[in-house]
Amino acid sequence: MALSRLDIALGQQGLDLPVAGEIGVLRADETQDYSALPADRLWLFNSFRPGFDALQARGYRVAAQPEGKFAAMMVHVTRSKAETLGLVASALSLCQAGGTVIVDGPRKDGIDSVLKHCRKFLEIDQVVVKNHGRMFWMTRPETLPDEILDWKCGLELSRNSDGFLTAPGMFSSAHIDAGSALLAEHFDDRLAGHIADLGAGWGWLSLQALEAGKDGITQIDLYEAEARALDAAKANISDERAQFFWSDVTKLTPAARYDAVICNPPFHQGRAATPSLGLEFITMARKLLKPGGSLWLVANRQLPYENTLAASFARLTPLAENAQFKVVLASKPIAGTTRPEQRTSRSVRRNR
Ligand SMILES: C[S@@+](CC[C@H](N)C(=O)[O-])C[C@H]1O[C@@H](n2cnc3c(N)ncnc32)[C@H](O)[C@@H]1O
Repeated sequence: MALSRLDIALGQQGLDLPVAGEIGVLRADETQDYSALPADRLWLFNSFRPGFDALQARGYRVAAQPEGKFAAMMVHVTRSKAETLGLVASALSLCQAGGTVIVDGPRKDGIDSVLKHCRKFLEIDQVVVKNHGRMFWMTRPETLPDEILDWKCGLELSRNSDGFLTAPGMFSSAHIDAGSALLAEHFDDRLAGHIADLGAGWGWLSLQALEAGKDGITQIDLYEAEARALDAAKANISDERAQFFWSDVTKLTPAARYDAVICNPPFHQGRAATPSLGLEFITMARKLLKPGGSLWLVANRQLPYENTLAASFARLTPLAENAQFKVVLASKPIAGTTRPEQRTSRSVRRNR
Protein backbone atom coordinates (compact mmCIF):
# COMPACT_ATOMS: atom_id res chain seq x y z
CA MET A 1 0.00 0.00 0.00
CA ALA A 2 1.24 3.52 -0.81
CA LEU A 3 2.71 5.42 2.12
CA SER A 4 0.56 8.24 3.45
CA ARG A 5 1.91 11.73 4.11
CA LEU A 6 1.80 10.92 7.82
CA ASP A 7 3.88 7.72 7.31
CA ILE A 8 6.45 9.69 5.32
CA ALA A 9 6.53 12.53 7.86
CA LEU A 10 7.09 10.13 10.76
CA GLY A 11 9.57 7.96 8.84
CA GLN A 12 11.77 9.66 6.24
CA GLN A 13 11.13 13.27 7.34
CA GLY A 14 11.76 12.75 11.04
CA LEU A 15 8.54 14.21 12.45
CA ASP A 16 9.04 13.75 16.20
CA LEU A 17 5.89 13.09 18.18
CA PRO A 18 6.03 13.83 21.91
CA VAL A 19 6.63 10.71 24.02
CA ALA A 20 4.05 11.81 26.61
CA GLY A 21 0.84 13.82 26.59
CA GLU A 22 -2.33 13.70 24.53
CA ILE A 23 -2.38 14.06 20.76
CA GLY A 24 -5.48 15.62 19.17
CA VAL A 25 -6.72 15.65 15.58
CA LEU A 26 -9.13 18.40 14.48
CA ARG A 27 -11.65 17.55 11.74
CA ALA A 28 -10.50 13.93 12.03
CA ASP A 29 -11.47 12.03 8.92
CA GLU A 30 -12.92 8.51 8.92
CA THR A 31 -11.19 7.74 5.61
CA GLN A 32 -7.72 8.33 7.12
CA ASP A 33 -5.45 5.79 8.77
CA TYR A 34 -4.31 6.93 12.22
CA SER A 35 -2.56 3.67 13.15
CA ALA A 36 0.85 5.43 13.11
CA LEU A 37 -0.27 7.55 16.10
CA PRO A 38 -0.32 6.14 19.67
CA ALA A 39 -3.98 5.09 20.15
CA ASP A 40 -3.85 5.35 23.97
CA ARG A 41 -2.92 9.07 23.76
CA LEU A 42 -5.00 9.94 20.71
CA TRP A 43 -8.19 12.06 20.66
CA LEU A 44 -10.05 12.47 17.38
CA PHE A 45 -12.39 15.47 17.08
CA ASN A 46 -15.22 15.40 14.57
CA SER A 47 -18.42 17.43 14.84
CA PHE A 48 -20.09 15.74 11.83
CA ARG A 49 -22.17 12.87 13.21
CA PRO A 50 -21.57 10.22 10.48
CA GLY A 51 -17.79 10.79 10.73
CA PHE A 52 -17.92 10.80 14.54
CA ASP A 53 -19.85 7.49 14.55
CA ALA A 54 -17.54 5.87 11.98
CA LEU A 55 -14.39 6.78 13.95
CA GLN A 56 -15.93 5.61 17.21
CA ALA A 57 -16.90 2.30 15.57
CA ARG A 58 -13.21 1.84 14.70
CA GLY A 59 -12.40 2.01 18.41
CA TYR A 60 -10.95 5.52 18.59
CA ARG A 61 -11.64 7.98 21.40
CA VAL A 62 -13.78 10.62 19.68
CA ALA A 63 -15.38 13.90 20.77
CA ALA A 64 -17.30 16.57 18.84
CA GLN A 65 -15.29 19.52 20.23
CA PRO A 66 -11.74 19.68 21.61
CA GLU A 67 -11.04 20.53 25.22
CA GLY A 68 -7.88 20.57 27.35
CA LYS A 69 -4.17 20.83 26.49
CA PHE A 70 -2.33 18.67 24.00
CA ALA A 71 1.31 17.75 23.42
CA ALA A 72 0.66 17.70 19.67
CA MET A 73 -2.23 18.58 17.39
CA MET A 74 -3.04 17.72 13.81
CA VAL A 75 -5.52 19.60 11.60
CA HIS A 76 -7.17 18.36 8.42
CA VAL A 77 -8.03 21.30 6.17
CA THR A 78 -11.64 21.83 5.08
CA ARG A 79 -12.93 23.41 1.87
CA SER A 80 -13.53 26.67 3.72
CA LYS A 81 -10.31 28.67 4.11
CA ALA A 82 -11.72 30.78 6.96
CA GLU A 83 -12.74 27.62 8.84
CA THR A 84 -9.35 25.97 8.22
CA LEU A 85 -7.43 29.01 9.50
CA GLY A 86 -9.75 28.97 12.53
CA LEU A 87 -8.88 25.32 13.10
CA VAL A 88 -5.13 26.03 12.79
CA ALA A 89 -5.42 28.87 15.34
CA SER A 90 -7.43 26.62 17.63
CA ALA A 91 -4.85 23.80 17.30
CA LEU A 92 -2.02 26.21 18.13
CA SER A 93 -3.94 27.49 21.17
CA LEU A 94 -4.75 23.98 22.42
CA CYS A 95 -1.15 22.77 21.97
CA GLN A 96 1.32 23.37 24.78
CA ALA A 97 4.37 25.56 24.06
CA GLY A 98 7.12 23.54 22.36
CA GLY A 99 4.57 21.01 21.04
CA THR A 100 4.01 20.24 17.39
CA VAL A 101 1.10 21.35 15.20
CA ILE A 102 0.69 19.41 11.96
CA VAL A 103 -1.53 20.58 9.09
CA ASP A 104 -2.56 18.20 6.31
CA GLY A 105 -4.73 18.32 3.23
CA PRO A 106 -5.14 18.02 -0.51
CA ARG A 107 -4.10 20.84 -2.84
CA LYS A 108 -7.68 21.08 -4.17
CA ASP A 109 -8.79 22.13 -0.68
CA GLY A 110 -6.27 24.93 -0.51
CA ILE A 111 -3.43 23.51 1.61
CA ASP A 112 -0.89 25.66 -0.34
CA SER A 113 -2.65 28.84 0.67
CA VAL A 114 -2.88 27.72 4.32
CA LEU A 115 0.87 27.01 4.29
CA LYS A 116 1.51 30.48 2.87
CA HIS A 117 -0.58 32.08 5.62
CA CYS A 118 1.20 30.12 8.36
CA ARG A 119 4.65 30.96 6.95
CA LYS A 120 3.88 34.68 7.34
CA PHE A 121 3.78 34.42 11.12
CA LEU A 122 5.49 31.16 12.14
CA GLU A 123 8.56 29.10 11.33
CA ILE A 124 7.58 25.98 9.34
CA ASP A 125 9.64 22.97 10.45
CA GLN A 126 9.08 20.72 7.43
CA VAL A 127 6.81 20.10 4.43
CA VAL A 128 5.93 16.71 2.88
CA VAL A 129 4.46 16.70 -0.64
CA LYS A 130 2.65 13.53 -1.65
CA ASN A 131 -0.61 12.26 -3.24
CA HIS A 132 -1.70 15.68 -4.60
CA GLY A 133 -1.45 17.17 -1.12
CA ARG A 134 0.87 18.50 1.54
CA MET A 135 1.54 17.99 5.21
CA PHE A 136 3.55 20.58 7.13
CA TRP A 137 4.31 21.09 10.78
CA MET A 138 5.47 23.83 13.09
CA THR A 139 6.54 24.18 16.72
CA ARG A 140 4.10 25.98 18.98
CA PRO A 141 5.84 29.16 20.20
CA GLU A 142 5.47 30.42 23.78
CA THR A 143 3.29 33.32 22.57
CA LEU A 144 1.00 33.26 19.56
CA PRO A 145 0.96 36.28 17.23
CA ASP A 146 -2.28 38.33 17.39
CA GLU A 147 -2.78 37.80 13.66
CA ILE A 148 -3.07 34.04 14.27
CA LEU A 149 -5.41 34.48 17.24
CA ASP A 150 -7.61 36.60 14.94
CA TRP A 151 -8.07 33.56 12.68
CA LYS A 152 -10.22 32.03 15.42
CA CYS A 153 -13.13 34.18 14.24
CA GLY A 154 -13.40 31.64 11.37
CA LEU A 155 -14.93 29.25 13.91
CA GLU A 156 -17.22 31.74 15.60
CA LEU A 157 -20.85 32.53 14.79
CA SER A 158 -21.49 35.90 13.20
CA ARG A 159 -24.46 37.47 11.37
CA ASN A 160 -24.64 36.78 7.64
CA SER A 161 -26.01 39.17 5.01
CA ASP A 162 -29.58 38.08 5.90
CA GLY A 163 -29.06 38.67 9.62
CA PHE A 164 -28.75 35.03 10.77
CA LEU A 165 -25.98 33.52 12.90
CA THR A 166 -23.73 31.18 10.91
CA ALA A 167 -20.03 30.34 10.57
CA PRO A 168 -17.81 29.53 7.57
CA GLY A 169 -18.02 25.94 6.34
CA MET A 170 -21.75 25.53 7.07
CA PHE A 171 -24.18 24.99 4.20
CA SER A 172 -25.12 28.35 2.66
CA SER A 173 -23.49 30.26 5.52
CA ALA A 174 -23.35 33.60 3.68
CA HIS A 175 -27.09 33.88 2.91
CA ILE A 176 -30.42 32.04 2.85
CA ASP A 177 -30.28 29.16 0.36
CA ALA A 178 -32.35 29.88 -2.79
CA GLY A 179 -33.78 26.34 -2.80
CA SER A 180 -34.94 26.61 0.79
CA ALA A 181 -36.41 30.04 0.03
CA LEU A 182 -38.44 28.53 -2.85
CA LEU A 183 -39.72 25.73 -0.61
CA ALA A 184 -40.68 28.11 2.21
CA GLU A 185 -42.81 30.18 -0.21
CA HIS A 186 -45.21 27.21 -0.22
CA PHE A 187 -45.43 26.64 3.52
CA ASP A 188 -48.95 27.30 4.78
CA ASP A 189 -51.28 26.36 7.59
CA ARG A 190 -51.21 22.71 6.46
CA LEU A 191 -47.97 22.61 8.47
CA ALA A 192 -49.48 21.54 11.77
CA GLY A 193 -48.83 19.15 14.63
CA HIS A 194 -45.44 17.51 15.12
CA ILE A 195 -42.93 18.45 12.39
CA ALA A 196 -39.40 17.22 11.55
CA ASP A 197 -36.75 19.18 9.64
CA LEU A 198 -34.27 16.66 8.19
CA GLY A 199 -30.83 18.23 7.62
CA ALA A 200 -31.84 21.43 9.37
CA GLY A 201 -28.53 23.31 8.94
CA TRP A 202 -28.48 26.63 10.79
CA GLY A 203 -32.26 26.57 11.11
CA TRP A 204 -33.76 28.94 8.54
CA LEU A 205 -36.29 26.47 7.08
CA SER A 206 -37.58 25.56 10.55
CA LEU A 207 -37.97 29.24 11.40
CA GLN A 208 -40.14 29.71 8.30
CA ALA A 209 -42.21 26.64 9.17
CA LEU A 210 -42.77 27.93 12.70
CA GLU A 211 -43.94 31.23 11.24
CA ALA A 212 -46.28 29.60 8.65
CA GLY A 213 -47.71 27.12 11.15
CA LYS A 214 -47.93 29.72 13.92
CA ASP A 215 -51.07 28.28 15.47
CA GLY A 216 -50.94 24.68 14.27
CA ILE A 217 -47.39 23.48 14.95
CA THR A 218 -46.99 21.93 18.38
CA GLN A 219 -43.34 20.88 18.05
CA ILE A 220 -40.60 20.98 15.42
CA ASP A 221 -37.62 18.62 15.69
CA LEU A 222 -34.47 19.79 13.94
CA TYR A 223 -32.16 16.93 12.91
CA GLU A 224 -28.69 17.99 11.79
CA ALA A 225 -25.40 16.05 11.51
CA GLU A 226 -23.05 19.03 11.89
CA ALA A 227 -22.93 20.02 15.55
CA ARG A 228 -21.67 23.53 14.73
CA ALA A 229 -24.64 24.15 12.41
CA LEU A 230 -26.99 22.84 15.08
CA ASP A 231 -25.44 25.27 17.58
CA ALA A 232 -26.15 28.05 15.07
CA ALA A 233 -29.76 26.83 14.72
CA LYS A 234 -30.13 26.97 18.52
CA ALA A 235 -28.82 30.54 18.45
CA ASN A 236 -31.19 31.51 15.60
CA ILE A 237 -34.37 29.93 16.99
CA SER A 238 -35.71 30.93 20.37
CA ASP A 239 -39.16 29.35 19.87
CA GLU A 240 -39.87 26.83 22.63
CA ARG A 241 -41.56 24.46 20.17
CA ALA A 242 -38.12 23.73 18.61
CA GLN A 243 -36.12 20.68 19.73
CA PHE A 244 -32.58 20.03 18.46
CA PHE A 245 -31.00 16.67 17.65
CA TRP A 246 -27.37 16.06 16.67
CA SER A 247 -28.11 13.05 14.44
CA ASP A 248 -27.29 11.17 11.30
CA VAL A 249 -30.71 11.22 9.61
CA THR A 250 -29.99 7.95 7.81
CA LYS A 251 -29.68 6.24 11.22
CA LEU A 252 -32.85 7.53 12.91
CA THR A 253 -35.26 5.07 14.49
CA PRO A 254 -37.97 4.86 11.81
CA ALA A 255 -41.12 5.21 13.91
CA ALA A 256 -44.09 6.97 12.28
CA ARG A 257 -44.47 9.96 14.56
CA TYR A 258 -44.55 13.11 12.41
CA ASP A 259 -47.42 14.98 10.75
CA ALA A 260 -45.05 16.62 8.30
CA VAL A 261 -41.39 16.53 7.31
CA ILE A 262 -39.67 19.52 5.71
CA CYS A 263 -36.41 18.90 3.92
CA ASN A 264 -33.72 20.35 1.70
CA PRO A 265 -31.61 17.19 1.61
CA PRO A 266 -27.81 17.15 1.37
CA PHE A 267 -26.45 16.23 -2.04
CA HIS A 268 -22.73 16.52 -1.28
CA GLN A 269 -20.44 14.83 1.20
CA GLY A 270 -17.35 17.05 1.23
CA ARG A 271 -16.53 17.51 -2.45
CA ALA A 272 -18.25 14.41 -3.79
CA ALA A 273 -21.83 14.56 -5.11
CA THR A 274 -23.89 11.90 -3.35
CA PRO A 275 -27.46 11.79 -4.73
CA SER A 276 -27.93 8.50 -2.82
CA LEU A 277 -27.85 10.48 0.44
CA GLY A 278 -30.91 12.48 -0.69
CA LEU A 279 -32.67 9.21 -1.53
CA GLU A 280 -31.94 7.93 1.98
CA PHE A 281 -33.45 11.14 3.40
CA ILE A 282 -36.63 10.64 1.33
CA THR A 283 -36.93 7.02 2.44
CA MET A 284 -36.40 8.03 6.08
CA ALA A 285 -39.03 10.78 5.72
CA ARG A 286 -41.52 8.17 4.53
CA LYS A 287 -40.76 5.99 7.56
CA LEU A 288 -41.02 8.90 10.00
CA LEU A 289 -44.40 10.14 8.76
CA LYS A 290 -47.79 9.17 10.14
CA PRO A 291 -50.10 7.62 7.48
CA GLY A 292 -51.73 11.01 6.79
CA GLY A 293 -48.43 12.92 6.85
CA SER A 294 -46.62 14.83 4.09
CA LEU A 295 -43.05 15.55 3.00
CA TRP A 296 -42.29 19.08 1.81
CA LEU A 297 -39.15 18.72 -0.31
CA VAL A 298 -36.89 20.95 -2.37
CA ALA A 299 -34.08 19.60 -4.52
CA ASN A 300 -31.81 20.65 -7.33
CA ARG A 301 -33.70 20.01 -10.54
CA GLN A 302 -31.27 17.52 -12.01
CA LEU A 303 -31.23 15.23 -8.96
CA PRO A 304 -32.83 11.83 -9.71
CA TYR A 305 -35.30 11.64 -6.82
CA GLU A 306 -38.52 10.90 -8.81
CA ASN A 307 -38.48 7.09 -8.67
CA THR A 308 -37.82 6.98 -4.94
CA LEU A 309 -40.49 9.62 -4.31
CA ALA A 310 -42.99 7.62 -6.38
CA ALA A 311 -42.06 4.42 -4.54
CA SER A 312 -42.46 6.09 -1.17
CA PHE A 313 -45.58 8.27 -1.54
CA ALA A 314 -48.95 7.64 -3.20
CA ARG A 315 -49.51 11.31 -4.05
CA LEU A 316 -46.91 13.70 -5.47
CA THR A 317 -47.89 17.31 -6.05
CA PRO A 318 -45.30 19.48 -7.81
CA LEU A 319 -45.45 22.92 -6.16
CA ALA A 320 -42.78 24.80 -8.10
CA GLU A 321 -39.98 24.38 -10.56
CA ASN A 322 -37.43 26.90 -11.84
CA ALA A 323 -34.11 26.70 -13.68
CA GLN A 324 -32.37 25.36 -10.56
CA PHE A 325 -34.85 23.73 -8.18
CA LYS A 326 -38.00 21.66 -7.91
CA VAL A 327 -40.38 21.68 -4.94
CA VAL A 328 -42.65 18.70 -4.27
CA LEU A 329 -45.34 17.96 -1.71
CA ALA A 330 -45.34 14.17 -1.20
CA SER A 331 -48.32 12.76 0.72
CA LYS A 332 -49.76 9.39 1.68
CA PRO A 333 -46.54 7.57 2.62
CA ILE A 334 -46.54 4.01 1.37
CA ALA A 335 -45.94 1.53 4.17
CA GLY A 336 -43.57 -1.38 3.60
CA THR A 337 -40.45 -1.76 1.55
CA THR A 338 -41.40 -1.09 -2.07
CA ARG A 339 -38.20 -0.69 -4.04
CA PRO A 340 -37.93 2.38 -6.31
CA GLU A 341 -37.68 0.33 -9.51
CA GLN A 342 -41.01 -1.38 -8.76
CA ARG A 343 -42.81 1.87 -9.54
CA THR A 344 -42.13 3.73 -12.78
CA SER A 345 -41.66 7.38 -13.55
CA ARG A 346 -45.21 7.12 -15.02
CA SER A 347 -46.38 7.17 -11.40
CA VAL A 348 -44.76 10.57 -10.99
CA ARG A 349 -46.42 11.99 -14.10
CA ARG A 350 -49.77 10.58 -13.01
CA ASN A 351 -49.81 12.91 -10.04
CA ARG A 352 -48.63 16.08 -11.73
C1 LIG B 1 -28.83 21.23 1.71
S1 LIG B 1 -28.44 21.52 3.39
C2 LIG B 1 -29.93 22.26 4.01
C3 LIG B 1 -29.72 23.03 5.28
C4 LIG B 1 -30.93 23.82 5.77
N1 LIG B 1 -32.11 23.01 5.88
C5 LIG B 1 -31.21 25.01 4.89
O1 LIG B 1 -32.25 25.05 4.31
O2 LIG B 1 -30.37 25.91 4.82
C6 LIG B 1 -28.43 19.90 4.06
C7 LIG B 1 -27.99 19.78 5.50
O3 LIG B 1 -27.95 18.39 5.84
C8 LIG B 1 -26.87 18.16 6.73
N2 LIG B 1 -26.51 16.73 6.63
C9 LIG B 1 -25.66 16.12 5.77
N3 LIG B 1 -25.64 14.79 5.99
C10 LIG B 1 -26.48 14.56 7.02
C11 LIG B 1 -26.88 13.40 7.72
N4 LIG B 1 -26.43 12.19 7.38
N5 LIG B 1 -27.76 13.53 8.75
C12 LIG B 1 -28.24 14.76 9.10
N6 LIG B 1 -27.90 15.90 8.46
C13 LIG B 1 -27.03 15.80 7.44
C14 LIG B 1 -25.79 19.11 6.25
O4 LIG B 1 -24.86 19.37 7.29
C15 LIG B 1 -26.62 20.34 5.84
O5 LIG B 1 -26.73 21.25 6.90
